[in-house]
Amino acid sequence: MLDFDFYNPTHILFGKDRIGEINKYVPLNSAVLIIYGGGSAKRNGLIDKVKTALGNRNVFEFGGIEANPHYETAMKAVEIVRNKNIDLLLAVGGGSVIDATKFIALASYYKGDTIELLNYGFKLVPSDAIKKHVPFGTVLTLPAAGSEMNSGAVISHKDGKFPVLSELSFPKFSILDPTITFTLPQVQVANGVIDAFVHVIEQYITYPVGALIQDRIAEGILQTLIEVGKTSVTEKNNYNARANHIWCASLALCGIVGSGVPKDLATHMIGHELTAYFGIDHAQTLAVVLPSMLNVRRDKKREKLLQYAERVLHIEKGTEKEKIDAAIQKTREFFESLGIKTRLSDYGVKVEDIPIIIEQLKKHGMTALSETHDLTPDISQKILEEAM
Ligand code: NZQ
Ligand code: ZN
Repeated sequence: MLDFDFYNPTHILFGKDRIGEINKYVPLNSAVLIIYGGGSAKRNGLIDKVKTALGNRNVFEFGGIEANPHYETAMKAVEIVRNKNIDLLLAVGGGSVIDATKFIALASYYKGDTIELLNYGFKLVPSDAIKKHVPFGTVLTLPAAGSEMNSGAVISHKDGKFPVLSELSFPKFSILDPTITFTLPQVQVANGVIDAFVHVIEQYITYPVGALIQDRIAEGILQTLIEVGKTSVTEKNNYNARANHIWCASLALCGIVGSGVPKDLATHMIGHELTAYFGIDHAQTLAVVLPSMLNVRRDKKREKLLQYAERVLHIEKGTEKEKIDAAIQKTREFFESLGIKTRLSDYGVKVEDIPIIIEQLKKHGMTALSETHDLTPDISQKILEEAM
């Protein structure tokens, strides 16, 4: 097992009708800025419920955070934080709204030029670069990214998607109420199952380091997502399926699975370029890249691929090659069973488009990817060609 630090201060309030408890976690006479997306939270009456819970605190609203949140839009909210002397932010949405809120909380009193926040990559933004950090809570409306229980964010700017990580970026509290997610369109539920699934795979199908308990937690999340995923997508009001989906998505990227193990973020990094360039939903880029990634990198990942085949997918028979082939095929079939396509051509991408994505990877420094840092642009090219 590799050395690690584990720190996660987020208070999780899980269950039906808990929005009223926001009152306990937001100091009285706070100035609060509610941040939401394109309008679903407004239309579904959720913003009103949050405002009721906030009582007579001084409440402001900022809507319009895009899917794949843009730097420029977040900076408009930063103006409000500064001008209205906001004490606490409240993200009401999915990964995009929560990520934007994390960025706004950092950018509002960042000592330098806020655009620098996009250039730290996977290094933590130094806490002493933030003159004052605005605390924030979240009300999760879409189980996928796990942003409600981690300290990462992904912000879009020009032609890229940029990670922004900081120890300050953990939500103070997050409300995880399955009934709030019942208004989700099926495709977003399916996206959420796949995003969570791939988060776990990227921290599990690497190489063995004797992290026995992390492996079993990862396998438990993967098995649960396979068990409830389809029901969560097709039976939109099935509370228990959705409750398990939500908790799997939060656990997938809260730090537990990833502590003390190697991580392979290559699927995400290639996926981010597909989203940034073609506008394909985040999770759908992962559904396309992952099966091809596992195939191209099968030699590097042989032991964990076999463990995944046997323990998660219960593939017992056949040669090693046959088991790995079957595991990759079953993974693709799982994604397709949720209604999500797994070929680049399904999203209108052509072979002649691939060099553009490779150039974007190089431009964003994504030239030594994976748990062994040897996934070069020509291997990325092979992965994308196989994903056509
Ligand atoms: O904007 P509104 O109107 O709310 O519509 C949203 C949006 O169009 C809609 N939606 C959300 N909750 C709803 C709802 N519609 C009806 N009822 C509800 N209850 O769903 C659409 C997608 O929302 P979005 O927040 O973009 O989706 P998701 O939660 O999948 O987040 C994707 C973002 O998360 C980032 C991705 O890069 C992407 O920008 N990620 C963040 C991570 C993190 N912080 O750890 C890790 C992930 O790998 C991921 O990269
Ligand atoms: Zn993701």
